[in-house]
Amino acid sequence: MKLLEGKVALITGATRGIGKGIAEIFAQQGAKVAFTYAGSVEKAKELETALSSVTQIKGYQSDASDYDAAQKLVEEVMAEFGKIDILVNNAGITKDNLLMRMSKDDWDTIIKVNLDSVFNLTKAVIKPMMKAKCGSIINMTSVVGVKGNAGQANYAASKAGVIGFTKSIALELGSRNIRCNAIAPGFIETEMTAALDEKTVQGWRDGIPLKRGGQPEDVANACVFLGSEMSSYISGQVLNVDGGMLT
Ligand SMILES: NC(=O)c1ccc[n+]([C@@H]2O[C@H](COP(=O)([O-])OP(=O)(O)OC[C@H]3O[C@@H](n4cnc5c(N)ncnc54)[C@H](OP(=O)(O)O)[C@@H]3O)[C@@H](O)[C@H]2O)c1
Repeated sequence: MKLLEGKVALITGATRGIGKGIAEIFAQQGAKVAFTYAGSVEKAKELETALSSVTQIKGYQSDASDYDAAQKLVEEVMAEFGKIDILVNNAGITKDNLLMRMSKDDWDTIIKVNLDSVFNLTKAVIKPMMKAKCGSIINMTSVVGVKGNAGQANYAASKAGVIGFTKSIALELGSRNIRCNAIAPGFIETEMTAALDEKTVQGWRDGIPLKRGGQPEDVANACVFLGSEMSSYISGQVLNVDGGMLT
């Protein structure tokens, strides 16, 4: 049985890494997929082509940090797909530096892209979800948002903000049968980490109880669970997908 059969999912930032993994596994599990990206037009086309034989899929170039663009995006997805059952707020970036050297611009950009985006998209989908009397919102935070990390004060603050937002929305919208949860990935191996020095990466792997970095599928499978009816009594939670790193 496919766990997301008949559902429509909107996933932000799905041209690479974790978001792409979520789009692929959601399609395999029967969901129709609308996804966004910032600039990777070619990669978006490739993903559409790869998954179009599996499900209905469409990519939208839309800046999640832009409030008006998010409202317009949701209108377009509603017109194309008719409903949105699952929103995955996945788009996110880093601009790491020690606080001593962190510019005001790097602070503002991270808060805008990682936290404003979650507000923008959630605000846009709750109207159709309230009308439908159901919905699952999944926000991508990070173990860094739970624990903090030297050199990532801006990123950690944005991701901790996502957790506070998630819990508040779960409290506000539970009575409307809208659930809101967060996933906190640890070290997930993507194209980005593949470019790093192997010795450094192995050091990270050795420090994880399960002795490996996570794969995008590990996070995507948690999203399937939180998007499906399997988690219908779960809301306001943060699920660490980190191989035991924070334990
Ligand atoms: N990788 C990890 O180890 C890890 C760990 C913990 C948490 N996370 C979180 O997981 C999420 C995905 O991470 P990732 O490593 O898979 O990232 P990634 O490989 O860098 O991909 C980021 C995706 O987000 C899109 N994006 C960036 N800014 C955007 C914007 N303003 N509007 C719309 N889309 C935008 C990118 O589109 P373009 O391709 O067009 O630029 C891309 O599709 C992020 O929220 C990240 O903070 C990652």
